[in-house]
Amino acid sequence: MTGAVTRGPINLVVLGPPGAGKGTQAVDFAQRQGTPNISTGDILRDAVRAESELGRRAKATIDAGGLVDDQLMIGIVRERLAHPDAARGFVLDGFPRTVAQAIAFDEIMTGHGPLAVVDIAVPDDALVERLARRRVCGQCGHATSVAAGESRTTCERCGGELVLRSDDTEATVRERLRVYAETTKPLVDYYSSRPNFRAVDGQQSPAEVGAALTQAVEDMLAEGTAG
Ligand code: AP5
Ligand code: MG
Repeated sequence: MTGAVTRGPINLVVLGPPGAGKGTQAVDFAQRQGTPNISTGDILRDAVRAESELGRRAKATIDAGGLVDDQLMIGIVRERLAHPDAARGFVLDGFPRTVAQAIAFDEIMTGHGPLAVVDIAVPDDALVERLARRRVCGQCGHATSVAAGESRTTCERCGGELVLRSDDTEATVRERLRVYAETTKPLVDYYSSRPNFRAVDGQQSPAEVGAALTQAVEDMLAEGTAG
């Protein structure tokens, strides 16, 4: 657990490549500030598990490392952010992911209160290693890292079975990194000239990344630049 969030709730977008630690940080930050954590990846994976129409449409794309259709994702996020629990702040992990999504998000955010955008920066070689070691709990979704040669198979939080995420195979990870570089990294340029954008070094311990992220948000709120 990292430092407490001392100011009122904020809307936070966590950017970063696959495996950067977006989910790790988003869950923690949202829990500390008492607002919903909205992960578009989790929404899609839940839909795949539930075998809903959305899940059926998205599964092949996710497993190939591609991106689900912009208009579909914009509709999902627009609808989710209209829920009452998102009125006093939220954390968004995995959206926006394309410039088209970011343009739509600007419009969705009109009148929605302060927004901070934080990019977690990690180089590719470290990402490949992290994703090869990631296991997720099939029951509660908690992500953890297994060390080389480690045989841990149960979740430390709920005792559920740890599994490899279906898109964490080597070939799909390579494709996700390629798609990120081509389609999602341009978002860093889209946001970086804005006063409500910061980048943090993602190659520190999770607690240190969390502290840097929290500090970045606190700075933007103190400067009045989160907007
Ligand atoms: P999504 O679920 O968003 O996946 P992603 O962006 O590829 O990111 P990951 O969840 O793999 O990584 P993360 O950054 O959350 O890292 P984590 O905290 O787990 O999207 C999946 C798919 O859904 C997409 O490919 C696409 O098909 C579709 N999709 C989703 N949103 C979409 C959208 N808006 N538009 C279109 N399509 C969309 O950490 C990774 C590992 O590292 C873990 O094992 C963790 O324990 C470890 N770790 C965390 N922090 C650290 C640290 N500081 N040091 C060392 N290890 C760490
Ligand atoms: Mg994630």
